[in-house]
Amino acid sequence: MQLPRHLAIIMDGNGRWAEQHGKSRSHGHIKGTRVAKKIIQKCARLGLQNLTLYAFSTENWLRPKSEVTILMKLLKKYLKKETANLIKENIRFETIGDRSQLPSDILETLEASQKATASCTGMRLVFALSYGSRQEITSAVRHIAQLIENRELKSSDISAEVFSSFLQTRTMPDPDLILRTSGEKRLSNFLLWQAAYSEFYFSNKLWPEFSEEDLLAVLQDFNLRERRFGQVRPVETHEQLNH
Ligand code: FPP
Repeated sequence: MQLPRHLAIIMDGNGRWAEQHGKSRSHGHIKGTRVAKKIIQKCARLGLQNLTLYAFSTENWLRPKSEVTILMKLLKKYLKKETANLIKENIRFETIGDRSQLPSDILETLEASQKATASCTGMRLVFALSYGSRQEITSAVRHIAQLIENRELKSSDISAEVFSSFLQTRTMPDPDLILRTSGEKRLSNFLLWQAAYSEFYFSNKLWPEFSEEDLLAVLQDFNLRERRFGQVRPVETHEQLNH
């Protein structure tokens, strides 16, 4: 099976899952974290090279303070507990997003996990945290404008590749596949520039009920799309040329 070089996931539906089960939203996030742990491990074992998880958006800061607190707590607990496992699975941990918004204890935990896994050579796991694509793009534009003001860059030097190099994802390939759970069909400010050529998969499963089998079905679907594209395109192009 041909895997995407980069899979990006919008883990959506924790709140609705909790509601359906008569539980608090916190329970939904706790279950969602367990699922994230399983999916991360599965992706690494399958040999995926890059996995990005949308764990907390810039807009998520607007949720009630108690929910923000529980999400931060879960993140901290996950990293404290799982960093040893990440090393065992040869997973390198990184983040994208506006770190200046994050509480200092979270920052310390992120930096510790990043440092501890820095020499791992298997899958790269990226948490998008306090991440917003418009903010990322705006910040890149501001940086470029500053360099032009300082005469360190000319406007004619700017190409799509140069622009990409100012984004936080500069060292990663663009996502080949973006998966969103919970039946919602939108990007919600996630990797807008990077998604230019991405394939999309929208699963009706809520994130807390998303399983390893569901992941395999998504990857198989991606594989079919790629295979069809690869085999048929040259024929179609030939036919189109002759019409
Ligand atoms: C969407 O569910 C999910 C989030 C806002 C956060 C995603 C976070 C996790 C899965 C847990 C933390 C992850 C790790 C890896 C530590 P929602 O609350 O928007 O659901 P709803 O749309 O049904 O209300």
